[in-house]
This record gives sequence, C-alpha cells and structure tokens, in this order.
Amino acid sequence: MQHHASPMTLSERADELEEQLMHELTDKIATKSVLFNMADGKVEMEGGAALQKKHPGKLFLMGADPRLPKLPDKPTLIDFFKLRFASTAHLLQSATHALKAGMDEKVILACLLHDIGVVSFIRCDHGYWGAQMIEPYVDEEVSWAVRTHQALRFFPDESVGYEYPEMYIKYFGADYEPEDYIKAEYERARNHKWYMTSRLICVNDIYSFDPNAKVDLDDFVDIVGRNFRQPKEGLGFDNSPSAHMWRTLMWPTRFL
Ligand SMILES: [Fe+2]
Ligand SMILES: [Fe+2]
Repeated sequence: MQHHASPMTLSERADELEEQLMHELTDKIATKSVLFNMADGKVEMEGGAALQKKHPGKLFLMGADPRLPKLPDKPTLIDFFKLRFASTAHLLQSATHALKAGMDEKVILACLLHDIGVVSFIRCDHGYWGAQMIEPYVDEEVSWAVRTHQALRFFPDESVGYEYPEMYIKYFGADYEPEDYIKAEYERARNHKWYMTSRLICVNDIYSFDPNAKVDLDDFVDIVGRNFRQPKEGLGFDNSPSAHMWRTLMWPTRFL
C-alpha cells in the first residue's frame, strides 16, 4: 500500500477500505460454526437461507478462506506450524529445553507437540484433542503422553522436581481442584508404563525458562522427519482417523 503524503479524501478512504475488504474475503460467505458463537456466549446458529439473504447473490465458502494464510495442497506438520498455529514459542521452548537436556527423541517430539490443541484448536481438553490429531502419525507413546500431560500437570512429582504450577494458582485460584475425570486420568497415568514420558512433558512445560532463549523450528525438522509419519497425500487427505481435524484447521469457515 502506498503512503499518502497528505490526508486521504473520503472517497480515497472508501476505495481503500473496499479494496481491503475484497482482499479479506472475495465473493463467498464464510460461516461461523456454533462453537465459534458459543465462544461469544451464545448457543446460536444462523440458518443457510437467512445468511444468504443477508449477502444477496453470494455463495457459501466451501474451501479455503482467503483471509487465512494459504496452505499448500499437500500440507505437512511444519506447514501447520507456520501457517495455522497461532503461537509456537511455548512449544519450541519446551522442546528446546528437552533437546538441551539430552532427552529421548520421543520426549522431544512430545514436548514439541504437547499443546497443539491449544495453539491451533481449542483449550478445553487440549491434551485429548492434541493427542487425537497426532495419533495416526506418531508412536503410541507420544500421543499417550500428550493426552495425559493435561492431567499430570495438576499433580506434583517430587522425584523429578515437578511442583504444582504457580501459574495455575494465579490463573485458577488457590482453591481450584481438578475435576474427577482429571483425577482419574492421573491415577491411571501414574501406574502406566509410559508415565515418565508424560511426566517429562510437564518437567519441560514451564514458562520460567529464559524467555530470551533462541528457539527455532528448524532445530526440530529432522526429529519431526524421523518421528512423525507425514502422509504423502498431505495432512487432511490421507483418510486417517484424524484427517478431518486437519482439514477443519485448514478450512474452518466452510459451510459444510
Ligand atoms: Fe498443556
Ligand atoms: Fe504447555
């Protein structure tokens, strides 16, 4: 966009706004799913006919939303990191910490992916969502650890120096108590053969590491290559049990 030396006239501003809107969304109607409305405190949806009436002559979006970064036709996990994960600093910091501590590649990968539920999808039950997304592509131990870290985070383990997070006191109050299903998950996990893998996610899952530490996704491309079975068709198009989740991230405003 060109910088104007003098203030823009009204019509110049209108033109600019129009152009901006056109770039934001072409001729299609992007739809908000019920879940998006619930986030605004409304259990609501607008029916197709009513919505189309508001946008005469327009069709519904049934593919990529032009307001969002364009993914390649056969997107990889790394593409999603770059184009769909709203924030990757925490994931990279956790994984970098595990890498520097010389931990197993499975643990490093688990750290790198542990919160993808949060950064790309939804906070509620993020461990479960994140695990489901990656399950077809990683060692069972990795997805298991991602699933259970959500529960383990609430319970200390002195043997590895993991304490109840200060942050949780600040966020949820000193008297917050996890729900029964989280407690039950913790009990199951504590006695599981892969307990320590999930526990090590918690050990690396803290925000008090040097916030200025240099982190770089490139440091993990090889580990991802060796431990994440990237489908040749691209994530979303391989007919895996979680392919639809990746497609939803790709096209979150499709009508159907
Ligand atoms: Fe988490
Ligand atoms: Fe985390």
